[in-house]
Amino acid sequence: MTKYFLIFITGLMAAISGCASETSEKANDNALNKSNVSAQETVKLSGKTIYNQCRACHTIDKGKDAVIGPNLWGIVGSDIAAKSDFTYSAALSAKEGVWDEAALDAFIESPKAFVPGNRMTFAGIKDADKRAALIKYLKQQSD
Ligand code: HEC
Repeated sequence: MTKYFLIFITGLMAAISGCASETSEKANDNALNKSNVSAQETVKLSGKTIYNQCRACHTIDKGKDAVIGPNLWGIVGSDIAAKSDFTYSAALSAKEGVWDEAALDAFIESPKAFVPGNRMTFAGIKDADKRAALIKYLKQQSD
């Protein structure tokens, strides 16, 4: 009787440990997959997250109306103060040039310093990596 019981226990232990190692392998696989995905998506995701700071005043989807600020679809590479459905401040209207990455970077770092007297009441993002991620995201929001 004891012998059968021992066999039963041994079998049970083997079954349990088999299961356990299978689950931990699965867990490893999942962790690996996740880290692959996050390596590719980090910049995109964080740019999108950083964009939340702009969302209160700007829409970004194509064809959406201006709100407090102009719609930002396709902003990278477009002329400064060129959206026809938005009334810009005199300061921004007078600013010559194109929103290339360097101009956007300077503006987002300090709107006040880049265009003195503009109406965008936003302190700026001091972290260069965050600005780079945000600009990458803005660039993707275009045709
Ligand atoms: C508190 C509201 C507010 C926030 C927050 C804000 N903006 Fe603005 N933004 C404005 C307004 C208002 C203008 C128009 C300024 C003017 O006419 O002087 C503007 C203008 C702009 C322009 C110029 C667009 C054009 O057509 O030339 C860009 C680019 C821009 N904002 C990007 C951003 C980004 C990126 C963020 C987030 C990091 C942001 N803004 C956050 C209100 C805001």
